[in-house]
Amino acid sequence: MENKTLANDAWGSRLGLILAMAGNAVGLGNFLRFPVQAVQNGGGAFIIPYLVCFLILGIPLLFIEWSSGRFGGKYGNHSTPFILDTMGKGRMWKYIGVFGIFTNIAVVAFYTYIESWSLTYVLHSLMGTFEGMSQSQVAQFFDNYISISSSTTGIPFEPVVFYILVLLLNVYILSKGLSGIEKASKIGMPLLILFGIILAIKALTLGESGRSEQFPDASTWDGLNFLWTPQYDSLLNPKVWLAAAGQIFFTLSVGMGTIQCYASYLKANDDIALNAVSAGFLNEFVEVVLGSSIVIPIAAGFLGLDWVLENAGFGMAFQTMPFLFQQWGTVMAAFSGVFWFGLLFFAGITSSLAMGTPWIGFMKDEFDWGRKKGAWSFGLLALIMGLPTVFFYQQGVFEEYDYWAGTVSLVIFALLESILFSWIFGINKGWREITDGADIHVPIAFKFIIKYVTPLLLLLVFIGALVTPQGNDWTTNIHNLLSGNSWQLDDSSIIRKLSHFELKNQLAEAKTALDRGVIEDRIFYSNLARILLVSLFLFIITLVFYASKRRTKLSSK
Ligand code: ALA
Repeated sequence: MENKTLANDAWGSRLGLILAMAGNAVGLGNFLRFPVQAVQNGGGAFIIPYLVCFLILGIPLLFIEWSSGRFGGKYGNHSTPFILDTMGKGRMWKYIGVFGIFTNIAVVAFYTYIESWSLTYVLHSLMGTFEGMSQSQVAQFFDNYISISSSTTGIPFEPVVFYILVLLLNVYILSKGLSGIEKASKIGMPLLILFGIILAIKALTLGESGRSEQFPDASTWDGLNFLWTPQYDSLLNPKVWLAAAGQIFFTLSVGMGTIQCYASYLKANDDIALNAVSAGFLNEFVEVVLGSSIVIPIAAGFLGLDWVLENAGFGMAFQTMPFLFQQWGTVMAAFSGVFWFGLLFFAGITSSLAMGTPWIGFMKDEFDWGRKKGAWSFGLLALIMGLPTVFFYQQGVFEEYDYWAGTVSLVIFALLESILFSWIFGINKGWREITDGADIHVPIAFKFIIKYVTPLLLLLVFIGALVTPQGNDWTTNIHNLLSGNSWQLDDSSIIRKLSHFELKNQLAEAKTALDRGVIEDRIFYSNLARILLVSLFLFIITLVFYASKRRTKLSSK
């Protein structure tokens, strides 16, 4: 089985690999999710836990995933089921590896939807659609767009059409193999960094010049001070730690299975350490420096910090930025719109392409499917999973996918793979995998961190999310528990989310039939989303089962 890697399935150059890996990490998370997480978790209170998580969770997991991937690649495995199988002793590891295909298909389903919004908004920026619109009209425009029934360009079912177009583009590039991904990253990454720098400079020089009568106190400096004034007391707040760890997972794409897949196409003695650190730091530069210098400061500069604190959310960038750009005049508005939404599009597509590779790699390794067939079937799966997010976005399908597949799954998989790496595969073997061929000296402290700190912290993060206490108040709840009272769960805990606790409460309190209808719809569509997610997971388990049987049959011949 050794060295089954085909020559045409290898990275063309080191630069191409690093840009592809960085493109995998740099995504919508850097520009849309990071600012919102930072705002919702107290700005400067968020930054320290975030950076600590990067060092003791992010970097170790990058080392684990890069080296597991390269190790699996030596045996001809390019997706986590059989990468983990080669590393672990028990039968169950290949089924745990299912997460590394499942998460990608589930995430890509809603992720490419946002990618398609970006593309539409690039077109509208060029067409001057937002000219003369008020802030509420721009916000309304977004609501109209996602409501499916009305059209902003005259194309019927516009969001569906753009969504399918973006999926087709992904499928087309994926069908070209790694060289297609490298090409897309070589174009997308430099452009997005360039656009990001231009917008950040514009934001940082805006100061108080964006003030209006309606928001006489607005200033970009308030936004920046809010983000960058460290608050050390947050170090004792588990809620902030959970959010910081969640953001590190999402932004670095760890716990997903894409890094292992990309790394499986490395050669046996290629460097892991320097590559992993370079791609990781490039992602952090884009997130921490550029990601925090655009939406929040610009919005704070025009609308004031209070407005930003009240309205921070994923859609904020679409609901406000086109209006804010208008304040810079017609030409600059068109350029800024193209830069901003173009940046989001490139950030998105270089990540969604990565999400396609574990499936394609798996079907090729196990069932000899060619690249084209792999890419098209991936597109079809993404479409089946994705259409409900497009049609029922407002009913919460999107959020449900993001929560279970984009958040919870990542933590579970990262926890299990870090246990496998350090305790079953063995840290000594693991350390050899990390340092073999390394172009930098990896501090030995990481051996200790990877073995003890990372799994322990992941376990704490998982338990913290599973049984989050009411009001996120750990001290009082632990105190209560010790004095014989019961543990009060918060509505945001995984256990309560599972049973729709919050929604059911809202339903019981709803005063009108209309309100009840809306909540019942939400529960219905959340359940639909869950059924789809579980079906996808079971489908991949079945494939792994057959793949394993096929392997046994082939090896006994
Ligand atoms: N890492 C990708 C992002 O940040 C998924 O969006």
